[in-house]
Amino acid sequence: MKLLVIFIVHAICIPCFSFDVPGKDLPLTLDYYKSTCPTVFDVVKKEMECIVKEDPRNAAILIRLHFHDCFVQGCDGSVLLEETETFQGEKKASPNINSLKGYKIVDRIKNIIESECPGVVSCADLLTISARDATILVGGPYWDVPVGRKDSKTAGYEFATSNIPTPEEGLISIISKFHNQGLSVEDMVALSGAHTIGKAQCRNFRSRIYEDFHVTSALNPVSETYLASLREICPASSGEGGSNVTAMDNVTRISLTTRSTTR
Ligand code: HEM
Repeated sequence: MKLLVIFIVHAICIPCFSFDVPGKDLPLTLDYYKSTCPTVFDVVKKEMECIVKEDPRNAAILIRLHFHDCFVQGCDGSVLLEETETFQGEKKASPNINSLKGYKIVDRIKNIIESECPGVVSCADLLTISARDATILVGGPYWDVPVGRKDSKTAGYEFATSNIPTPEEGLISIISKFHNQGLSVEDMVALSGAHTIGKAQCRNFRSRIYEDFHVTSALNPVSETYLASLREICPASSGEGGSNVTAMDNVTRISLTTRSTTR
């Protein structure tokens, strides 16, 4: 059987991260800011180059922030909102709290754009463009980003809790969550290739390395060595080291693996 494993984001990223606009009045277009902020793509690109140079993990951080934004009410910047008296913010939802990062990076880009074109470009668009640029900067593919997203005025705390897949979740449930966003299994596999970069906290992989690792991994010296190194970073006791981090992918670490393989 031919199994296609695509590591990250090809053309499918356009539909998956553009299914979103609240109101859906106007279609997204590449030239939405042509007269109001013609430099937006260049400005974001230049800033992203600095941001990823400062710390390559910032690419992973922005890609994940974009994903968590898009899975709740679409890609509308709702993840960025602080809570108010009338709604709970997504930042405190369980998949995000003490885990999701990058809010200040978006603020930084937004400030620069505001000085260039005040009050014009949505945060939702900035985050979407930044995630695309982040992908390119760590060796991933290019895709066009149509723009014109409107920023949400409300957040979806409950949806953030229920829509975003968790590390303990089974495959069928994760497939269903992607399906609910209009994404196929192939989309899910490709997008999960984002995990060839970035870092994860011990609390999110502890059960994997102390419970079922040997059931699902080949018993060989390489995996045994890797397992031992993970256990050094991540102690078995749930009271210890939960926020210790390690690379999501021991091999690639800071550059996306983009090849396709067949088995
Ligand atoms: C398939 C279901 C998914 C699950 C269960 C999942 C879960 C996780 C978890 C638990 C972490 C570590 C967070 C932490 O320890 O603080 C993580 C990190 C990450 N995820 Fe996912 N994820 C999924 C899909 C995706 C998708 C679709 C993308 C983007 C296209 C993505 C991008 C990332 C990135 C880049 C990181 C590293 C972030 C960093 O370095 O801060 N993930 N994911």
